[in-house]
Amino acid sequence: MFDRVVTALRSAGCVFAEDEARLLLAEASGPAQLAANVLRRVEGVPLEHILGWAEFAGLQVLVAPGVFVPRRRTGLLVAEALALLPDQPEPVIVVDLCCGSGAVAAAILHRATGVEMHAADIEPAAVQCARRNLEPLGGHVHAGDLFQALPRVLKGRVGVLVVNAPYVPTEAIPTMPPEARLHEPAASLDGGPDGLNFHRRVAAEAHEWLAPGGSVLIETSERQAAGTSGLLAQAGFQVNTVRSEELDGTVVIGTAVIATAVAGAAVTATVVAGTAADGAGGDWSGATPAREGCPGSA
Ligand SMILES: C[S@@+](CC[C@H](N)C(=O)[O-])C[C@H]1O[C@@H](n2cnc3c(N)ncnc32)[C@H](O)[C@@H]1O
Repeated sequence: MFDRVVTALRSAGCVFAEDEARLLLAEASGPAQLAANVLRRVEGVPLEHILGWAEFAGLQVLVAPGVFVPRRRTGLLVAEALALLPDQPEPVIVVDLCCGSGAVAAAILHRATGVEMHAADIEPAAVQCARRNLEPLGGHVHAGDLFQALPRVLKGRVGVLVVNAPYVPTEAIPTMPPEARLHEPAASLDGGPDGLNFHRRVAAEAHEWLAPGGSVLIETSERQAAGTSGLLAQAGFQVNTVRSEELDGTVVIGTAVIATAVAGAAVTATVVAGTAADGAGGDWSGATPAREGCPGSA
């Protein structure tokens, strides 16, 4: 049976056919479900939507059809947020804006203590999924457009704001892998003409929500990092860019300067690990290795 599943997946172009076959066999309740799931996978449905979960930052996070599948590169956003959350007696308010499945918030809640977590998304399917992932961990999930979703009482009190908002430039969406293009909502990908529409809005509004000395962390692509950091610097944040070649992730961190924040503060670019030459081609393409290469749905 294993060999037949591998052959079917490989002939559809799945690069990690053996790994995927193992997962499909382990999760199927019987031969009929296995056959149906293999067919869906061959047709290009993301493996995670078939399984109902995604592996993210060492956790199994629930995902559902119509919900963005968390990417491996976003582990950098988690790591950088955790680095800003040392153990302390007073709970720190953390907000995961554009939370999707709630993967980032869940990974933070699993590793940090003393965190009051709020997550928000505009898509009802994502909000429902995030509630399933986060409420058992004590997280609060809100529905609505960016900051409008959050309870007003959080204004000026957020210690760490993590954001993985859509950042694919509109015209690059047709170049994305079919699994993302056809099976994830456009609203989870489309960042507007230059991909920075959401970063612009977050940079403009974050100060109102952050506590003095609080930080906003935005996932971006390597080629868009200068644009994202420029927006935060213009908004008066002290800015630091972190890059992980291992995860292929880029995060821009803006810190609300205590006391005299000056609009247009200098950009401090700390690049962790070397930067690859730009133009590597679609570093927002977003498919995890295990999800590339099943082009049946193209
Ligand atoms: C790239 S996905 C990231 C999801 C999640 N943060 C992750 O890393 O897996 C972007 C998310 O932003 C949400 N989104 C899009 N527009 C939004 C808006 N105006 N307000 C809040 N969330 C929004 C989408 O529904 C989607 O879940």
